[in-house]
Amino acid sequence: MLQKIEDIKTHFETEINKVKDRSGLEELRIKFLGRKGMISNTFALLSEVPAEIKPQFGQGLNQLKKAVEQKLKETGAKMGKTDSKKAQLDLTLPGRSPGRGGRHPLLAVADEIKSIFSALGFSIEDGPEIETDFYNFEALNIPKSHPARDMQDTLYITEDIVLRTHTSPVQIRVMEKQKPPIRMIAPGRVYRRDTPDASHSPFFHQVEGLVVGEDVSFADLKGIINAFAHRMFGSDIKVRFRPSFFPFTEPSAEYDFSCVFCHGKGCNVCKGTGWMEISGAGMVHPNVFEAAGIDSEKYTGYAFGMGIDRIAMLKYNINDIRLFFENDLRFLNQF
Ligand code: PHE
Repeated sequence: MLQKIEDIKTHFETEINKVKDRSGLEELRIKFLGRKGMISNTFALLSEVPAEIKPQFGQGLNQLKKAVEQKLKETGAKMGKTDSKKAQLDLTLPGRSPGRGGRHPLLAVADEIKSIFSALGFSIEDGPEIETDFYNFEALNIPKSHPARDMQDTLYITEDIVLRTHTSPVQIRVMEKQKPPIRMIAPGRVYRRDTPDASHSPFFHQVEGLVVGEDVSFADLKGIINAFAHRMFGSDIKVRFRPSFFPFTEPSAEYDFSCVFCHGKGCNVCKGTGWMEISGAGMVHPNVFEAAGIDSEKYTGYAFGMGIDRIAMLKYNINDIRLFFENDLRFLNQF
């Protein structure tokens, strides 16, 4: 009877040395430890074992069972490593294609705006995001005590240095170094002390436009904004100007485009009005010309602003400005 245990042990040792892979190992486990396996079958013989060797038989069989379990585990663990190494070297696996980068929707829209204005003869200018009080306010006819300073919640670095609240200071910088005729746009980032929500962000993007020359009129401004609207959103877009106030333009206006979603019928995006606010514009104020060293008797000009984020939201039907700045790939991959 005890010999039987020894036989199973030798049998197992020869078999385990022959095992090559996980499925062979599993077969062996079932053969020896399975419910109808050799060890379980031998346990079933316990009742037939003579009483005097029963304890020895039971003990021996238990030890064998443990040893077999242990050996199977060890062999399995070794295989675990060899298997995964093999997988790393599987040359038949299809290659992993690298993720392709895309253009950020804001950059794509900024580029489109730039190419539309370039085609209309505008140069593209640039200015610093950290500005002095002079360029951001003073030269734009917004003196220190002027209530219009409250129109823009400013982020001050020092009393005299600010994060620019609009791209209008670029108007001054260009007029200082360039004599008319001037025909320029200046795209860039601007900052305001705003709490972020679906339509506000503490930083966003504007395009400034400035045209200075002899006999430049409000009609020219309307013509350019119209041409832009048609090229950006299609020839059925209508433009309207509403009287408004900006210290650096006189007269001033705000301009709207007919809703690009409902074509002016009224929908939830335009809140039923059929119109969408774009930004402000107007004729350059003589005080601004003076601050920049341009003869306001000889020259006239118009200026306009434009929100890049706003235009991108309209173009791609995006309802939350924060999506542009969160860098969530699920959002960005759609462009
Ligand atoms: N700078 C203004 C703003 O940020 C927009 C504007 C630009 C208005 C040029 C008139 C002329 O709101």
